[in-house]
Amino acid sequence: MIDVLDLARPDIRALEPYAHSAWEPALTRLHANENPWADGADAGALGLNRYSESQPKALIGALATHYGVQPGQVLTCRGSDEGIDLVVRAFCRAGRDRVMFCPPTFAMYGFAAAVQGADVVEVPLDGSFGLDADTVLKGWSPGVKIIFLCSPNNPTGNSLARGAIELVLTGLAGRALVVLDEAYIEFAGVGSCLALQSRHPELVILRTLSKAHGLAGARCGVVLAVPAIIGLLARIIPPYALTAPTIVAAFAALAPERLARTQDRVRRLVVERKRLHAALIALPLVRKIWPSDANFLLVEFDDAARAYAAAARNGLLLRDFSRRPRLAGCLRITVGSPEENDRLIMSLAAA
Ligand SMILES: Cc1ncc(COP(=O)(O)O)c(C=O)c1O
Repeated sequence: MIDVLDLARPDIRALEPYAHSAWEPALTRLHANENPWADGADAGALGLNRYSESQPKALIGALATHYGVQPGQVLTCRGSDEGIDLVVRAFCRAGRDRVMFCPPTFAMYGFAAAVQGADVVEVPLDGSFGLDADTVLKGWSPGVKIIFLCSPNNPTGNSLARGAIELVLTGLAGRALVVLDEAYIEFAGVGSCLALQSRHPELVILRTLSKAHGLAGARCGVVLAVPAIIGLLARIIPPYALTAPTIVAAFAALAPERLARTQDRVRRLVVERKRLHAALIALPLVRKIWPSDANFLLVEFDDAARAYAAAARNGLLLRDFSRRPRLAGCLRITVGSPEENDRLIMSLAAA
């Protein structure tokens, strides 16, 4: 049996974890050099004079229930951005190990690799932005410790085929971590690949409360992995990573009535995505809209600068990808509220 931790940095495996102050809420805290007085104006009962609970038990439990895993398979972090950074730092030695990803995709994978001093191997998505498992497997070489896959993919919006993901997992078993970023999975018709973890311990899933759950400002990301990987990442995450207000907000978002509202909002955004797609594709300025399983559309324009400027004149900010390889003429448009989408449609129709 292969130990997934054999892929990790030996120095991190040997690292003595930083012993942060114990979380004993019933006891008087004279062990953490905090200030004894809370300022009620800060956050009321939250007591911001105190350090927060590291990897808060109740939140971890609620997340484990929500995702259908054991608490030992869950790590909370400051957005899934931090999850990306943690896996790269724990598994890649600067100047020696490499990170693979499939452009066009989320820029943070390359960025985290660069910060860590890890080289990158880029294996482009195919002509429809699908995952070509054969090319990925051919692109692997012994220094590649991590491959990042993103499904639904940002900025293209499409889901990667589950069969192709499984082929990559099988082909790279024991050779690399497969980090599957499912930040937008709630908006997709297809389910998570989380269940594959029982057969593939190298599979690390990234989830977030930023998108479907509407908590981007709280910064709560989730790493779901086998306990050995979670334990390793927990060694290097800064202590008290989540602030007390974030812990409260994240926990509240997992209550049944909030989850029902989230589901309803996701449904409404999917309806809006279809409506926006239909309205935009009818405009003369729009050349193509890529199929999307996420809460955004990748739209190719005859003149992206003109479309961007028309939206901006109406106070609408879009994301310009038109100078990125393979994305000439493309803007990424987040699906907003019905009113926001109407404003966008009118702006572009008048462009
Ligand atoms: C694919 C993908 N992964 C991860 C993130 C980071 O999300 P967060 O750090 O808010 O959890 C984003 C944000 O846009 C994203 O598009």
